[in-house]
Amino acid sequence: MRLYSQFDGLNKLKQSAPYFVSKYMKKLHILYPLTIVTIAIFLTASFSPVQSQIPDKFENLKVLPKDITKPELVGRMKKFTAALGLRCVNCHVGDAKIGFSSFDFKSDDKELKVKARFMLGMVEAINSDLLAKLDMFGKERVKVECMTCHRGQSKPILIGDALMTAYDNGGIDTLTAKFRGLRDRYYGTHTYDFGERVLSRIGATLEGLGDMPAVLRVLKMNAEYFLESSTNFAQIAFAYLELADTTSAIENLETAIKLSPNVSWLKMQLEKIKGEAE
Ligand code: HEC
Ligand code: HEC
Repeated sequence: MRLYSQFDGLNKLKQSAPYFVSKYMKKLHILYPLTIVTIAIFLTASFSPVQSQIPDKFENLKVLPKDITKPELVGRMKKFTAALGLRCVNCHVGDAKIGFSSFDFKSDDKELKVKARFMLGMVEAINSDLLAKLDMFGKERVKVECMTCHRGQSKPILIGDALMTAYDNGGIDTLTAKFRGLRDRYYGTHTYDFGERVLSRIGATLEGLGDMPAVLRVLKMNAEYFLESSTNFAQIAFAYLELADTTSAIENLETAIKLSPNVSWLKMQLEKIKGEAE
């Protein structure tokens, strides 16, 4: 959203100030304070006209209360944009370059708006009809919001599903490219989980499909991000074993043992593999 990203920019600028000051002191000693001031003026100046270009009366509310105040409605809309990673113009007819004066907010011509209205009704039903029934247990209810499911994306897809869809479409190369692309873009946000277990579970799914070379690719990619994970190296070892590459299996199991010297089970496995190899 426009306003959010402007604040974001300001925060980034503040955070990187020492860097600016040290590296570009000579060039920026006048510019830097000016930039902050300019942005501050820009922010206050752009805020009020933006709000005033939104109509005061709403003509086409079918789920939200008809007597909702403007600040409340705008607040709800901002939550939509944040929860779904969208901008006003994705749901409303208008030209974002011209600004809100060109918007026809009441129009239902955009499919995403119609879908969002359906979702609004769904969320109300979950909170008021379904979750309300838990009241008999006498605890305060946690409410479901758009963000609960969407976490910053318009289709709330889980990473495992996104990766397996990529695999179905183009095999292991497509899967690994998808993972790296998503990680580059979303790491540090709550949109996707990039924890160690994600690729490990994908490995298990691929093993179920009998694609051992793909299992190995996925676990090795996991090792790039989790260098200290003995579990992951042990999994790599077992994948090599499936592929009848005992030497590589032993190598990886030894790495796993180095990382977790106290796990006796790993040592037992190593003895077993070495015994069988002889
Ligand atoms: C995910 C889709 C979505 C996004 C993004 C979105 N809106 Fe909406 N907006 C809706 C829906 C759905 C309604 C109608 C709600 C209803 O029927 O009760 C609505 C209604 C409105 C209305 C009332 C229109 C009328 O006259 O009935 C205004 C004004 C509005 N939005 C402004 C905004 C602004 C400003 C933004 C960006 C900050 C925004 N919306 C972002 C879906 C969206
Ligand atoms: C219980 C989980 C859940 C909640 C809560 C939820 N959604 Fe959704 N939403 C979904 C799912 C799942 C889809 C994908 C449906 C499909 O296309 O199969 C979806 C799809 C959408 C889409 C269509 C996206 C597209 O690209 O086609 C919009 C718009 C949307 N939701 C808006 C909202 C809004 C606004 C809210 C809050 C009022 C909300 N959702 C709350 C689960 C949820």
